[in-house]
Amino acid sequence: MMLAHQCSARAYLATFVTIFLIILFLTANRLHHRSPALAHLTEGKAASDPSQHNIDRPSKPPPNESSKSDDEDSIDGPCNRAVRFLRSDDLGLSNTIQYSRRCIRPIHGDVDREEVANVSSPLITGTTVLDLDGDCNRIALPPCEPLTLHVPPAYPPQQGQYGHLIFGVASSHDRLRDALPVFSHWLSGSGAQLVAVVSDADSPDHTYDIAALEASYRKHNISATIVRPRLKESLPRVDTPDDAELSRPAAVEQLHFLLIEDMLDAATPQTQWLGVLDDDTFFPALHPLALALGQHDHTRPRWLGALADNWVSMKIWGFMAYGGAGTFLSVPLAGQLRPHLRDCVRQSKIVSGDGMLKECVYAHTTTKLTLVEGLHQHDIMGDPSGFFESGRKTLSIHHWKSWYHAPVAQMAAVARVCGDCFLQRWRFAGDDALLANGYSISVYREGVDKLELDRVEATFRDPDAKFDFVYAPFRPKLGPDKKKSFRLEKVDGDVERGERFRQVYVHRAPREEGSEPVDEVVELVWEV
Ligand SMILES: *[C@@H]1O[C@H](CO)[C@@H](O)[C@H](O)[C@H]1NC(C)=O
Ligand SMILES: *[C@@H]1O[C@H](CO)[C@@H](O)[C@H](O)[C@H]1NC(C)=O
Ligand SMILES: *[C@@H]1O[C@H](CO)[C@@H](O)[C@H](O)[C@H]1NC(C)=O
Repeated sequence: MMLAHQCSARAYLATFVTIFLIILFLTANRLHHRSPALAHLTEGKAASDPSQHNIDRPSKPPPNESSKSDDEDSIDGPCNRAVRFLRSDDLGLSNTIQYSRRCIRPIHGDVDREEVANVSSPLITGTTVLDLDGDCNRIALPPCEPLTLHVPPAYPPQQGQYGHLIFGVASSHDRLRDALPVFSHWLSGSGAQLVAVVSDADSPDHTYDIAALEASYRKHNISATIVRPRLKESLPRVDTPDDAELSRPAAVEQLHFLLIEDMLDAATPQTQWLGVLDDDTFFPALHPLALALGQHDHTRPRWLGALADNWVSMKIWGFMAYGGAGTFLSVPLAGQLRPHLRDCVRQSKIVSGDGMLKECVYAHTTTKLTLVEGLHQHDIMGDPSGFFESGRKTLSIHHWKSWYHAPVAQMAAVARVCGDCFLQRWRFAGDDALLANGYSISVYREGVDKLELDRVEATFRDPDAKFDFVYAPFRPKLGPDKKKSFRLEKVDGDVERGERFRQVYVHRAPREEGSEPVDEVVELVWEV
C-alpha cells in the first residue's frame, strides 16, 4: 500500500489490479455466502469442525473399566475425566505433550473490563511431559497451582427470560442441522423463539424430515419452529434479465428477507424484537444483547444493526444493517413492511436479503438505521486473533466458520462462569503471557510491556485503512518468533451442575514426517 516513493506506472497498475481483485473477491464471497451453492461447500467444514462437538467422548477406552473413576470432582485419580478429556479424539493431541495447568479461583465483583489486569507471577508453571498414549494409570497430572482472578459476576440464569425475542434464520437443512450445537449455546432454555425456514426443504433431489429437525432443536430446549418455505419459487426481480432467477426452490436470499412474515406469524403479545440472522451469526450470551436492545423503544418503528467493518463492502452495498451481525426490527416496523414484502423482493436491485431489507425500509417507511455498538459483521479473513485479543467486547460474532475459523461456542462457554469475562485480559509477570479469556494465551518473547495492548494486532488479511472506521488503531502483526500462541480448542464441565469448568489451550507442534510432534497444552480449571 505504501507506494509514495515508487510512482512507476507499474506500481499504479499493481495497486489498481490489487484493489480490483479485492473488490472482486469480496463481491464473490458476499454473493456466495448467500447462495445455497456455497452453503453446501462450507458444510463439510462445519461438520468436521471438532469445535462443534460439545460432548466429551473418550477415544481410547480406559484400560481397566472397573477402575474408572468418574468422580466429577476428583481431578487427580488415574483415568479420570480430566485425563480422558485430554485423550479425546476430537482434541487430537500428539501422544507426548508438554502440559501445565492452573486452578482458577474467580473472585466475582466490579471489574474494569477495559483494563488489562496485572498478575505479578507467571501463568504457565510446573510444565510436565505427559505420555497420553500409555497406560492411563501411569499418567500423573502435575499439581494444580491456584490462581486468583477478579472477574465480573455470572449473568442471571437464562430460565425463559427472553420470551420477548424471536430470531429468524433461512438456511439449508444440513446447515441448520450442523448449527444446532452452536445455536444451543445461546438459545437453550432462554425462552426466545427460533423460526427457521429450511430453504431446500422442497428440493426435488432430497426428502428431508423437517419434523425430526425441529424435534432435535426442541430436545435442546429451544422453542424452535422449523418450516418449509412458503415461497415455492423465486419471485422475478425487476433487476434480473429474463427468468434467470426464477429458481425452484426459491432463492435463500428471498426467503431470508421474507422471514419477517414468518416471524410476525410466530409473534405473541410479548414479542418486542424480531432478530434476522445468518446461520453463522453467534451471540456469546443473550443477556448483554437483550440489555443493548432494551435501550431502544420497541413500541416505535425501529431498525437496529451494524455496518460492515470493511469500507470496501460499505462502498458496494451501502449504509445498512449487515445481516451477519444480527439485524433487529421492532414489531411496529415489521408490521409496516408486511404488506409490501413481496413487492420489495420484486423491486429489489440488491440480491442479498439484508440489501432487500434496506431498500424496503427506505421505500415504505421513514425509519432509519440505528447502530448498536458491539454487533459485528466480521468481514475479516484469515487470522482473527488481532480482534479477539484486543479486549473489545462483542455482542455478536460472524463468519467464524468460513472467512476464518474459531470454535465460538467453546470460546464463549466461560460466560457461564463469569459473564462478561469472555475475552477479558490479564497480563502475567515472569513469563510475559497474556490471557484473552476463552480465546488464547499468548507468550510475548520480547516482553508484553512493550506492546500497545489496546490496539488491534494486524493479524487478518489486508488490515489496512479500509478497516479503520471499526478497528483502528492497529499495531503490527508479530511473527511466531515474537509471539507464541496457545488457542482455546475445547472445554469441559457443566457449570449449571456445579462441575469444574476446564479450558484447554493448545500450541500445536508441526506435523512433520520423521519426527514425533510434541504439542504444548495449558489447561485452566475454573472452580465454580
Ligand atoms: C481394575 O482395577 C481394579 C481397581 O483398581 C482392580 O482391583 C482390578 O484388579 C483391575 N482389573 C484389571 C483387569 O486390571
Ligand atoms: C499493569 O502494568 C503496566 C506495566 O507495568 C502498567 O502500565 C499498567 O498501568 C498496569 N495496569 C494496571 C491495571 O494496573
Ligand atoms: C427449558 O427452558 C425453559 C425456559 O424456556 C426453562 O424454564 C426450563 O427449566 C428448561 N428445561 C430444562 C429441562 O432445562
